[in-house]
Amino acid sequence: MRTEVAIVGAGPAGLLLSHLLARAGVESVVVETRSKEYVASRIRAGILEHSSVELLTEAGLGDRLRVEGHQHRGVYLQWPHKRHHLDFVDLAGRSVWVYGQTEMQKDLVAAHSGPVLYEVSDTRLHDLTTDRPYVTFRDRDGAAVTLEASVIAGCDGSFGPSRAAVPAPARRVFERTYPYSWLGILADVAPSTDELIYAWHPDGFALHSMRSETVSRLYLQVPNGTDPAAWSDAQVWDELAKRLGHGQDGWTLAPGPITDKSVLPMRSFVQTPMRYGRLFLAGDAAHIVPPTGAKGLNLAIADVALLARALIALVKERDAGPADRYSDDALRRVWRCTHFSWWMTTMLHASGDPFDAELQLSQLRWVTTSTAGATGLAENYAGLPI
Ligand code: PHB
Repeated sequence: MRTEVAIVGAGPAGLLLSHLLARAGVESVVVETRSKEYVASRIRAGILEHSSVELLTEAGLGDRLRVEGHQHRGVYLQWPHKRHHLDFVDLAGRSVWVYGQTEMQKDLVAAHSGPVLYEVSDTRLHDLTTDRPYVTFRDRDGAAVTLEASVIAGCDGSFGPSRAAVPAPARRVFERTYPYSWLGILADVAPSTDELIYAWHPDGFALHSMRSETVSRLYLQVPNGTDPAAWSDAQVWDELAKRLGHGQDGWTLAPGPITDKSVLPMRSFVQTPMRYGRLFLAGDAAHIVPPTGAKGLNLAIADVALLARALIALVKERDAGPADRYSDDALRRVWRCTHFSWWMTTMLHASGDPFDAELQLSQLRWVTTSTAGATGLAENYAGLPI
């Protein structure tokens, strides 16, 4: 097989890239290890920042988002006996939208017309520093396939082969692990809040998020290595009620049937550069952020917006300028979001150290009372223009 752009990975980054390229008349083929059903149903992020929504709308992917998504002006930050609303629209002129990655993935699949090969195996990338790179894999029937391309886009997340296809001397890896994880639940119950609540608590962080008027998504900080089965549904709700301040100023948390329970590890990771010869990395293939700032999906969308422009210039206009600048341009945003995600994470999670706790509370008081502090958080959370 031959195509212009071989895209490894059919998650949001890979499918959005393929969609943007197709709109400009650039052909691509997408290969994906998982099944179509798996990719479409996995529970992931839930918040789209302002510029992500604009980009999806311009790309013709905003119709359902505008109807079924929910625009939020800001978030609540809280700690025991105090809840404070930060209004991003007032502070930074931008809002965010609640719209699950699962829904965005459905929209991408529905809008997509080019070839996507699911359930491939043994994917390998070859000859990346030549102008005839290619990908080899086995299709779902086990037949060996060679896919030749002008360029390869690695959109295959942190476990895919693209990241590791850059040889060690050419890549640098930056990494931070955190001594805690999140226990996440999805519940069939109306959210007990109009906008997200990020709660600091001496026993650990909690987050009240949502997917729709009838589905809530909530998280608890738990120790690394926690088995989700070790938490009964009643224990989860009790702990959420305590950390989110049930009873505080008359606010109550409504529990409901839990439909999914899982543990998410927290990690910061950046691999540089994001380009090696004819291979371009985008999204989780190049970087991972802890979920506290809701940046992972938005960063993938921002990478893809830059990469699509760069590849269109390269393939259609034979202009290598944007492709040559891609890694540096993308990494500026990646490092901003890496810092913001680390900052939100370390501000809100209990470490067990009383000195850390006092610094966190002081920082929370500062970002909720100083316009400068609040504006910094709002700019980063609602997102900078792409
Ligand atoms: C989510 O709804 O899954 C969510 C929202 C905000 C975060 C992380 C996750 O910071």
